[in-house]
Amino acid sequence: MSLNDSWMQRDLAVLWHPCTQMKDHEQLPLIPIRRGEGIWLEDFDGKRYIDAVSSWWVNVFGHANPRINQRIKDQLDQLEHVMLAGFSHQPVIELSERLVALTPPGLERVFFTDNGSTGIEVSLKMSFHYWRNCGRLTKQRFVTLTNSYHGETVAAMSVGDVALFTDTYKPLLLDTFKVPSPDCYLRPEGVSWEEHSRTMFAHMEQTLAEHHEEIAAVIVEPLIQGAGGMRMYHPIYLKLLREACDRYEVHLILDEIAVGFGRTGTMFACEQAEITPDFLCLSKALTGGYLPMAAVLTTDKLYQAFYDDYSTLRAFLHSHTYTGNPLACAAALATLDIFEQDNVIEANKALAARMASATAHLADHPNVAEVRQTGMAVAIEMVADKASKTPYPWQERRGLKVYQHALERGALLRPLGSVVYFLPPYTITEEQIDFLAEVASEGIDIATRAAASVTVAPGAPVNFHDPG
Ligand SMILES: Cc1ncc(COP(=O)(O)O)c(C=O)c1O
Repeated sequence: MSLNDSWMQRDLAVLWHPCTQMKDHEQLPLIPIRRGEGIWLEDFDGKRYIDAVSSWWVNVFGHANPRINQRIKDQLDQLEHVMLAGFSHQPVIELSERLVALTPPGLERVFFTDNGSTGIEVSLKMSFHYWRNCGRLTKQRFVTLTNSYHGETVAAMSVGDVALFTDTYKPLLLDTFKVPSPDCYLRPEGVSWEEHSRTMFAHMEQTLAEHHEEIAAVIVEPLIQGAGGMRMYHPIYLKLLREACDRYEVHLILDEIAVGFGRTGTMFACEQAEITPDFLCLSKALTGGYLPMAAVLTTDKLYQAFYDDYSTLRAFLHSHTYTGNPLACAAALATLDIFEQDNVIEANKALAARMASATAHLADHPNVAEVRQTGMAVAIEMVADKASKTPYPWQERRGLKVYQHALERGALLRPLGSVVYFLPPYTITEEQIDFLAEVASEGIDIATRAAASVTVAPGAPVNFHDPG
């Protein structure tokens, strides 16, 4: 028995994996990873895979990055953890100062949690609580876009709209307003991204106009709806949204958990719209992909609405045990150093251009409806019929065929439904980008040539994406 098989068997005897139908592993081998180095992951049998999706969008400077490793090792000898209520420490203070300096002007306070979903919970609870503290008791509801994803906890699911993840739990969810997404994949032929995004804003304007007295906040993923299939839109939508939120006295929450830290071509996506949100949620690449941590940044105005005598009960009494963990802060500080010292945002422009040129030919593929890109994210949408953009039935799991082919060829490409995408670490080379494009082209050929593998029952839901 190979080492991979032996670890796989031990794993499958005791683990329950995230976002996985465990029965799939009767056919689909689980891959135990022994080590990572740079863009590579290596399994126990010595096979190597390019991490083309940055291990669920977190790893920006490669695995076992010497600079991040060293910073964590140094921190480990000083302080591994202390609770953050009543206590503080150097890395959390330095990290907060740097985040305030780095993010758009007006964001002056940082609240830490330990993953993206809990960061979202904090922004929703803070917004709701702010309006209560201001005596605006009717402002209790949230507005979100169709096809959004904001995490897996119950309130985060409530503001999400990817049916695969939320449908089962509907009876548990908050009642939110869902406004049609500005998703430019759905724009009419001949219409620009900007025009389409602007036109789609009318739905948001109408919801805010009619319901603003009930609404605490609007929450969106700026520029890229990640788990919803890497659907993209134009920054004009964010500009219009900021103006409308101001006009209607509604908070704007930007979830940059997936897109923050350079993914869209700027350090933060909201820079492209030149706006400051009321809440900015960061996580994933914040620690370079090393340790779980999220940061919610907000304004001094918001902070002041909670600042009072204890007995007024205006305080935000929310906590997570590992809030502000010093090792995670050290990883984040090292990550920010690399952004600064290596001029990463500028250097990424050449890589993004190569991602565009390497994948451009796929637009002519008979079963590819679109190749789209925003900065360091490229997505290729496979369809059953190109002219009408008819999707493959989700039950056929075409993306899984691309995944399996890519693994054989030494790449970790994990599609979202029928959307193949690259979200690589920024340490990828141009040659490695070319290799990924080659593997993706082969995988798409194989996946789209395969005969339909299932009969789809009439009335079955159509808007499911396989998990990414
Ligand atoms: C946009 C967005 N928000 C929130 C989350 C949830 O983050 P976490 O998985 O750390 O809870 C994700 C995770 O993929 C995400 O993409």
